[in-house]
Amino acid sequence: MQVASRGFRKALAHSRAPTRSFTYIRSAHTDSNPPPNPSTTSTKESKEGLVRGVFDTVASSYDLMNDAMSLGVHRLWKDSFISLLRPGSRGPIRCIDVAGGTGDIALRVLDHARETYGDRETRVDVVDINGEMLKEGQKRLKKTMYHNTPQIAFLEANAQALPTETFPDNTYDVYTIAFGIRNVTSIPDVLREAHRVLKPGGTFACLEFNKVTNPVLAQVYDQYSFSVIPLLGTILAGDRASYQYLVESIRRFPSQGDFAQMIADAGFANGGNFEGDGGGWRDLWGGIACIHTGVKL
Ligand SMILES: C[S@@+](CC[C@H](N)C(=O)[O-])C[C@H]1O[C@@H](n2cnc3c(N)ncnc32)[C@H](O)[C@@H]1O
Repeated sequence: MQVASRGFRKALAHSRAPTRSFTYIRSAHTDSNPPPNPSTTSTKESKEGLVRGVFDTVASSYDLMNDAMSLGVHRLWKDSFISLLRPGSRGPIRCIDVAGGTGDIALRVLDHARETYGDRETRVDVVDINGEMLKEGQKRLKKTMYHNTPQIAFLEANAQALPTETFPDNTYDVYTIAFGIRNVTSIPDVLREAHRVLKPGGTFACLEFNKVTNPVLAQVYDQYSFSVIPLLGTILAGDRASYQYLVESIRRFPSQGDFAQMIADAGFANGGNFEGDGGGWRDLWGGIACIHTGVKL
């Protein structure tokens, strides 16, 4: 019991007194980046502290747990995500990978551009609210050919309020966010910031767990998520509660169509057909995961 509750106690401590253990980039409150709404501040801050604490706790085991929980399938989904984006196909790009954690997507973007198109100039900024996840990413980076190159940078910041001096308007060709947007307090704020930092014509791409429509698959998936994943959290990371939180956050995320509508509301062009697969999104494995895209006009 004591082991199982360790992570969540840490998370709660963070929710009361959030720490900034990495090079934190302060948010500038401008017209396009307004100060927090006082009526929701305490709820928002406590959720952000909670999420930061959960990822502090899981950071060192995150990559191992990702493979264990998804039986390695997250790699296939990430491959599909990168293949859809084809970074490097139209020359070097600037990419921002938000909620980038340990840099998994960023390294795939760079590998794809180099291996498929011989591109060694594409650059990715990995942005995350959690310094511990970024530290794991930097450890990982040291073992790659991108270490000590200008192709990748790790920056600690909140996706909901990217500081304008570090992330100016109209900067990036591609904005990626993988398995991150469901953890944020305000999805519209994240989408607004994505729209702001992308160049006109730039692509927003989100990979996230979503709603399974097939009832049989949904039942099997529910069983797996609510029994196996927290159990693996206990066995492999000594932390049941954080992994229980991660599963529950998947269930609270909007449906494919509702999320596509939010992307359109933020000003992106995404096909306009929100009734089924083929509009603004592509389901993977029956909707267990899903890729949403949109273009800034
Ligand atoms: C499940 S991990 C995904 C990491 C990586 N994208 C991947 O696919 O392996 C979710 C990440 O979202 C980050 N995160 C949560 N809320 C955030 C926010 N408001 N701003 C930036 N990052 C956030 C967490 O710290 C965590 O590293």
